Amino acid sequence: MGGATTTGGIDLGAFEVNQDPDAFAAEMLVGSPIQWSERNRAWLLLSYKAATEGFLDPRLSNDRTPAFRRAVQKRGDAFERTYELLSGWMVFRDPPVHTRLREPVRRAFTPRVMETLRESVVAITDELLGAIGDEPTFDFKERFAAPLPALVIADLLGVPRSERDRFQEWSDKLANVVFAVDGSAADPATEASIVAATEEFIDFFGGLIEHRKEHPGEDLISKVVSANDLDALSVLEVVGACTMLLFAGHETTTNLLTNGLRELFGHPDQIGRIRRGEVDTTLADELLRVVGPAKAMVRIATETHVRYDQEVRAGDAVFCVILTANRDPATFPDPTRFDLGRTPNPHLGFGWGSHLCLGGNLARLEGGIAMRRIFERFPDIRPDGEPPAWRGNPLGRSLRALHVQV
Ligand code: HEM
Repeated sequence: MGGATTTGGIDLGAFEVNQDPDAFAAEMLVGSPIQWSERNRAWLLLSYKAATEGFLDPRLSNDRTPAFRRAVQKRGDAFERTYELLSGWMVFRDPPVHTRLREPVRRAFTPRVMETLRESVVAITDELLGAIGDEPTFDFKERFAAPLPALVIADLLGVPRSERDRFQEWSDKLANVVFAVDGSAADPATEASIVAATEEFIDFFGGLIEHRKEHPGEDLISKVVSANDLDALSVLEVVGACTMLLFAGHETTTNLLTNGLRELFGHPDQIGRIRRGEVDTTLADELLRVVGPAKAMVRIATETHVRYDQEVRAGDAVFCVILTANRDPATFPDPTRFDLGRTPNPHLGFGWGSHLCLGGNLARLEGGIAMRRIFERFPDIRPDGEPPAWRGNPLGRSLRALHVQV
């Protein structure tokens, strides 16, 4: 693990951390639960206890609006609307605004909406697996793991089938919009396309919201609109909620499915358990614990305080490190054992505390159904060549592609 820890200190984004997170966690968890990473310019909360305390600490903020404001000042007025749109994303806010933005969306994930989604996950899974036909090899990520969550979210939001292709394009453009506000320079053409994409989102979802006010259905927009009876959210904030759901639920789920299948290839015994129907609801949770796409969540300290004998200063970045916390033997007995039936499994793959993922049950549903159906449809599915190397940055772990033979 020398590359992750000795060359210039700890680096959560190091190649070695992505290839062998068990070794990195074992090394980190014998030391202090909080350590400074010069490379990541952040305090790392490494143990399960330290990370969960971090998620629950109101002195550690999610509020990104000051940074968005600075980006607007740097980039000009055209970015004002992008700023306004992203300010409606609950994940970038603290209470009380966070609570106001989250509540109508939380209430909209009703049992009926979840039941409708189950039907849609099964139908879309079968549609995508069916479209693969007799091809002997394909890229699992491109053909299955990337389209599945986008199509499920389209159904969740009640996007008409005729708009689906456009909707997938939105999804790609959205990442540009989100990363636009990090202040890094982009060329003028990219900047113009970000501003244009913001307007397109507002038009597209604004139209859908107006339509659902007149013609409510079982979709989430209809539920948010009706849960929003006191007009707690502006139209732009409901558009913000839609774009946030699309962003939060797409690439994360794609990576869970791709990372998960790669991991399963190394554990034929666990594949056998899936085939025999022995594991169901616990399956996605163990995949999240071991190969969950989120490595760490970022917070900013709002006041100077002491954590485990370290002075954290106001303005410092603090990472709640999911990757090491999920391997903490104090919480997960025998943490290197990959066990799809593991229970209890209080992993932090969906975060913790007030920002706990709102789509967790949807992601579990997609993971469970997809894995079962894949091994039914392709009983001999295996990697085409060597399994690909992991890639990632300090905050996430993923695969560029996963070529399989069937
Ligand atoms: C495997 C898939 C997923 C993973 C690993 C994941 C992970 C996470 C994590 C770690 C957070 C916490 C953010 C923080 O603490 O700052 C979060 C928040 C959130 N996720 Fe997910 N997510 C997944 C799927 C989904 C899906 C399918 C949806 C909805 C369609 C969704 C919607 C949200 C929302 C709305 C939040 C913000 C909650 C808040 O700030 O109060 N996620 N997710």
